Amino acid sequence: MKNTLFWRLFWAFVGTLIMTVLVLTFTMVTLMRAERQSAYEAEVRMQARDVAGLLQMRDMNSAWMLNPASGTTVQWKIDEIRENYGAEVWLVNANGSYAVVGSEKYGEQITEQHVLEQIWRVLSGYEIRVQGLLDELGDSMVTIGVPWYGSGMFSGRVMGAVLLHISVDSLKVDYSDLVRYAIVAGVVAMMIGTLLAWLIARRQSQPLKAINEAVTAFAGGDFERRVEIRGDNEMTQLGASFNKMAEEISNLDQSRRNFVANVSHELRSPMTCIQGYVQGMMDGTISDEERPKYLQTVLSETQRLTKLVGELLDLSRFESGKIPMNMTVFDVDELILSVLFKYEQKIEDKEIMVDIAFREQPCYVRADADRITQVVTNLIDNAVKFTREGGQLTVWTHAVDSLAYVTIKNEGTGIPAEDLPFIFERFYKVDKAHTSGKGTGLGLSIVKKILEQHEQNITVSASGSMTSFMFTLEKADGKKEGTV
Ligand SMILES: Nc1ncnc2c1ncn2[C@@H]1O[C@H](COP(=O)(O)OP(=O)(O)OP(=O)(O)O)[C@@H](O)[C@H]1O
Ligand SMILES: [Mg+2]
Repeated sequence: MKNTLFWRLFWAFVGTLIMTVLVLTFTMVTLMRAERQSAYEAEVRMQARDVAGLLQMRDMNSAWMLNPASGTTVQWKIDEIRENYGAEVWLVNANGSYAVVGSEKYGEQITEQHVLEQIWRVLSGYEIRVQGLLDELGDSMVTIGVPWYGSGMFSGRVMGAVLLHISVDSLKVDYSDLVRYAIVAGVVAMMIGTLLAWLIARRQSQPLKAINEAVTAFAGGDFERRVEIRGDNEMTQLGASFNKMAEEISNLDQSRRNFVANVSHELRSPMTCIQGYVQGMMDGTISDEERPKYLQTVLSETQRLTKLVGELLDLSRFESGKIPMNMTVFDVDELILSVLFKYEQKIEDKEIMVDIAFREQPCYVRADADRITQVVTNLIDNAVKFTREGGQLTVWTHAVDSLAYVTIKNEGTGIPAEDLPFIFERFYKVDKAHTSGKGTGLGLSIVKKILEQHEQNITVSASGSMTSFMFTLEKADGKKEGTV
């Protein structure tokens, strides 16, 4: 159950979703944290600038002396910074002596070289940010330094530096609220995503499930089972292909049933006839004088059976396509004449007028001569069988380009237009009622199969009492050769 397509798709989607949400949330939180951090640092730096601005507005005389006890707005500002940010502010003059407002320290001189270097940078107009600058404050202190400019006659000159010392910890922003929001957003995204994954997985797996059910039912013998087709994608194409295949298999199954029914029917009538007559002869119902007549019937019924079995064998051999063709070059006109010759007696009996029109003589073709003899025999047999007494039978051959055309035309019963499309089907007979004495309806299907094997075609046309069959053969140039 857990291994079905649905679950596999579902877990694949959910897995991808979890990964995506985790990566996205982590990236977002990291980016936002960095953003907040730099905003906070900028805010802290702003405080130092504010102090520098206030110093600029002060009276220069007292300013440069850096008297912290003067009770100016600078002091208030520095106290406020100390309170709000936990930061210490040093005011450093151009000589490098400094004061810490609000404490005892003022007028002290900075002596460390590396600190002085940084102070000089600020005095040159730059802003600095250095961690662990002053040994006395320790490594965890960040020092932000901004220049403080003079006013009046000192306008544009850097008078000193404002150094703001803040511990790394107080500089860090609290982002636990960010994480909280991110978790809530992540969970909501996961819930919606899981729901969507479930819907998509179901939508994707359902057609396959339906096809699977249909195939299983079909394999179980339900030949009527089909897949419902909706939309147009690979799945529906698969469903459509299955339906097509199912249609063909059930047609095949139907034709197999029809075939068995037809064969049994064709076998039953001669066998019943033979059984009846033999029984009659044995129990004396048929007198000795009548015996030869009945024996003759038994013989012809046996011949009919043999012919039927032979034709069935031929058909199955042609359909399996297993017998190789023996292609030779021969004169089809000659072949037709020899077949007609075999039917001489029947033609004379029915007083049929035979008209032979060979446009090209000889007409060489490349084909399997034995099989083409079978084709011509079947067609002439039909023509002779279905021509009315004294009717006309025309045989003509002609060649166009690379093809030779053989036409066998006769007048007689004709074939109704509605029967024409089915005439080459096995056991198809126009006169469905006829039984004994006539054919089995296999001749034309054998003809068709042979010509298909030659990759040639046969057509039939009928109007009124005229019936005409025409088939093509590959024309061979030049004289008769040996086996090709
Ligand atoms: N020349 C023709 N004129 C009229 N009907 C024809 C002609 N040829 C074929 N038919 C019709 O087509 C049907 C099928 O012909 P086909 O040769 O397949 O079978 P058959 O002649 O009845 O039997 P078989 O050839 O097996 O002895 C025939 O039963 C007949 O109804
Ligand atoms: Mg026939």
